[in-house]
Amino acid sequence: MREMFTGIMGYAKRYRTVLLFLFAGLVVESLYDVGVRYSLKFVIDKAVVEGDMPALLLILGLLGAGAVLFNFVVIGCDYFWARIGGRIVNDIRYDMFVHLQSLPVGFYRRASSGDLTSRFNADVGQIQQGMILAFPMAMMGLVEIIATLVLMLLVHPLLAGIAAAGIVLSLLMPRFIQGKALDASFVLRREEGRMIGYLQENLTGQSVVKAYGLEVHTATDFSSRLEELLTKLARANFLSYLVSRLPSLTFLMLQLVVLGVGGWLTINGRITVGDLVAYQALLIGLNSAIYNLTWMVPSFIEATAGWRRIREILDEPLGIRDRPNAREIGRFATSIDVDKVTFRYPNSEAPTLNRVDLKINAGEYVVFVGRSGAGKSSIINLILRFYEVTEGRITIDGQDVRDVTMASLRRQIGLCSQEVTLFDIPVRDNIRLGALDASEEDIVAAAKAAEIHDLIMSLPQGYGTLAGTAGARFSGGERQRIALARALVRKPAILVLDEFSSALDPTTEAEILRTIDRLKGTCTILSVTHRLSMAENADKVVVMRGGRIVELGTHNELIGKRGEYSRLWKRAASEEKPGPPADAAGAPVPTPAE
Ligand SMILES: Nc1ncnc2c1ncn2[C@@H]1O[C@H](COP(=O)(O)OP(=O)(O)OP(=O)(O)O)[C@@H](O)[C@H]1O
Ligand SMILES: [Mg+2]
Repeated sequence: MREMFTGIMGYAKRYRTVLLFLFAGLVVESLYDVGVRYSLKFVIDKAVVEGDMPALLLILGLLGAGAVLFNFVVIGCDYFWARIGGRIVNDIRYDMFVHLQSLPVGFYRRASSGDLTSRFNADVGQIQQGMILAFPMAMMGLVEIIATLVLMLLVHPLLAGIAAAGIVLSLLMPRFIQGKALDASFVLRREEGRMIGYLQENLTGQSVVKAYGLEVHTATDFSSRLEELLTKLARANFLSYLVSRLPSLTFLMLQLVVLGVGGWLTINGRITVGDLVAYQALLIGLNSAIYNLTWMVPSFIEATAGWRRIREILDEPLGIRDRPNAREIGRFATSIDVDKVTFRYPNSEAPTLNRVDLKINAGEYVVFVGRSGAGKSSIINLILRFYEVTEGRITIDGQDVRDVTMASLRRQIGLCSQEVTLFDIPVRDNIRLGALDASEEDIVAAAKAAEIHDLIMSLPQGYGTLAGTAGARFSGGERQRIALARALVRKPAILVLDEFSSALDPTTEAEILRTIDRLKGTCTILSVTHRLSMAENADKVVVMRGGRIVELGTHNELIGKRGEYSRLWKRAASEEKPGPPADAAGAPVPTPAE
């Protein structure tokens, strides 16, 4: 638990002054509680036994004044706790979010977004529960215990000694199972995160569930996950309860001992009746203080488990980072050189790329073709520096991509990848993400170049139309063209299209090809595609197979070679044959799915 307390203290330090004030408030609050109990001694010994009415009124007056002060302090404290607590939680969430922004692409291939979300939600929530609600209660418990012991000393040292021994014993008992309880709680939280991950995947995959009639299958699957969760839940909860139960049980035994000794002291005239009553009242208070302290332990255990999961995110290594002396790279001007590059994905054994050599000159239109899994996207990932080469190097204008800052490298790249990501914000803003300072004219110009302007204008809200969750408002092809507009608005030196035209009909594709023709010369275009028509106008066609470049040249040269490329081309042509040819107006030719 110490790990969590020190962790949270790191955040709490920022609000030191307010926290000191709050702590003082807590002390006042607990002292008042204890004071009221101890006042019984005076009520009995000084007022009741002596029959002294004015003394009784004086005591009552003091207690009343204290009560007013007490209420002000308590309400003030509650208000500030709520605020500070919220701030600490926000600070933690902010740090997690910022860290996540800097984690490498590879991390997101491994991580489940549902599980990550649950860390923001449930785990941070546990911290809030544990630290913001339970922590003050526990502090109060502690202050009350100390104050009570001091007052007990005033009553009789022997009684105070017995109580102190009891407290130590009852607080030590739970230590034996605390570690187990914490681990169980961590396992539970991880399991819950997995369940949320499963749930989220299921929710986003509902069209597959329905199309394949998987409703019953997924329900059974979910039910067995719940069963498994239940076992973990029961174990974690039971251990937590046990931790909070043990001290009270120990204390109960103590009470009997104390009652006996106290009674004996009174009978012998060592202490007054008022002392005995006040002592008993203090003892009951002590029990509830201990209860306050230990009742919170489960909350602390859960908070610690939550904290561990939060740390897992914060401790996740940032992956590829700028080297200490990384330079800014200027706008791409001469060439990209891929030099004997071998690359293996971090989690795989066989290399995905094998001693690949390639030169791309500025302003060229280069098309990468080849079977699925040949390594086309992987080369692009390396040029973008989403991953680092295992061997060899990639240079841009003579500078190794590992020696330049990531920001200056990516600033010049416009990426339209296989998976288009639109956010549920207006189309205008979705495009603007490519260049945050783009003007409305820039956005419209980019949309026109991406052949999506007319469609956007035909919508009632035009550029203000919300894209829907993950861009659901638009068709696959429309999403891709919006993504292209986003890349173009960046005025990229290097435009990267990965599987860009796969969702476009032939007419739109032809229009995009014209756009590419217009862009040729103004920027370098790297296009990965299965549509061989994209390759016809390319300056260079790179044909890949099994992680190697097997052919390189223009469309005409490669067709002449009668090698891999011409085979791919023939197969594509024969697949298209069964369909009717495009009519003169250029109506879409239905092609079989690839
Ligand atoms: N993150 C990853 N971790 C491990 N292996 C990967 C990863 N991404 C891709 N691979 C593997 O690397 C190989 C090349 O993948 P790549 O994505 O470069 O293929 P591609 O040529 O773009 O194929 P496609 O045309 O289907 O997009 C494949 O065998 C793939 O299984
Ligand atoms: Mg690919």
